Amino acid sequence: MTHTLYSPFDMHIHFRQNEMLRAIAPLSGYSFSGGVIMPNCIPPIDSAELLADYTEQVNNALGALDFTPFMTLFFRNYSEKELAEIKDSIIGIKLYPAGATTNSDQGVKEISKAEHTLAMMEEMGIRLLVHGETHGFVMDREKEFLSIYDYLAKKFPRLHIVMEHITTKDAVEFLDKYDNVTATVTLQHLLITLDDVIGGLMNPHLFCKPIAKRYEDRDSLLDAALNAHPKLCFGSDSAPHPIDKKESCGCAAGVFTAPIALQVLTQLFEKHNSLPNLQKFVSDNAVNIYNLTPSPKKVELCKKPFLVPEKYHTVVPMYAGQTLEWSIESVQ
Ligand code: DOR
Ligand code: ZN
Repeated sequence: MTHTLYSPFDMHIHFRQNEMLRAIAPLSGYSFSGGVIMPNCIPPIDSAELLADYTEQVNNALGALDFTPFMTLFFRNYSEKELAEIKDSIIGIKLYPAGATTNSDQGVKEISKAEHTLAMMEEMGIRLLVHGETHGFVMDREKEFLSIYDYLAKKFPRLHIVMEHITTKDAVEFLDKYDNVTATVTLQHLLITLDDVIGGLMNPHLFCKPIAKRYEDRDSLLDAALNAHPKLCFGSDSAPHPIDKKESCGCAAGVFTAPIALQVLTQLFEKHNSLPNLQKFVSDNAVNIYNLTPSPKKVELCKKPFLVPEKYHTVVPMYAGQTLEWSIESVQ
């Protein structure tokens, strides 16, 4: 049995820098046609100079692979001149609440102080990508942030707002409230709950931000993905950290899924008799929402066991050492 995906896109990925970037970017570049590259580097990508330099590093790491990196900028208050200069080089600007996750200390402390830049982004048609968590109780952070999404979606009705890596039933329901709001969802949040992270022995490789939630949340996200909700795109949030940063006290947040994502998604959609909708979830929805041009890339998956490596470079992937039901047979 085989299944073919055309021009799959990963609308939320962390590629990192230097040696990690060079080792990790080709893994996405092999099976995906393109993806949204997050800017939470050290330092954050928040100027035209840093963006040009990082874009070059990303392209060098991808080499000849047919993969389009859709670059992003780290949100701060920008001038109109800065936005005009940078606008055509990015797919959007990523807003992190200060301290919400990895390398986000320079994020936004008060949303009201961001409004001038948001108004200019709305005028110039620059998309806003958001890490939507408050600093409240960890299980409630996303739900609490919905009131901020609500405020922003109303105040800036022509600003395209992407709720990144949604993890709750409430966020799924929120999707239908405003025309200018869409979302991404990760692989792990379609599969796991908090029980998988800390319900038994703690699994640091499933620890990410936002944290996996309850069964009803997972089921609601899965239902939206399996039905290819037209405002929902696949965005792995694949976030590599070296093994010593994960298997340690003060475990870094992030699940590494880029090289197994398409195999696992195929297995999951097949299990739920939804394979015909996978193309929409991993490509067509993104093409429509972000106005992308699909590439001629064709990924053929085959129902044949795939043993997930214990490590890619220094990073432990989700399902390390386990056997998946589907493999990538060829990429053309
Ligand atoms: O778990 C996460 N890891 N969530 C994020 O928002 C950032 C990411 C990272 O960069 O490691
Ligand atoms: Zn992320």
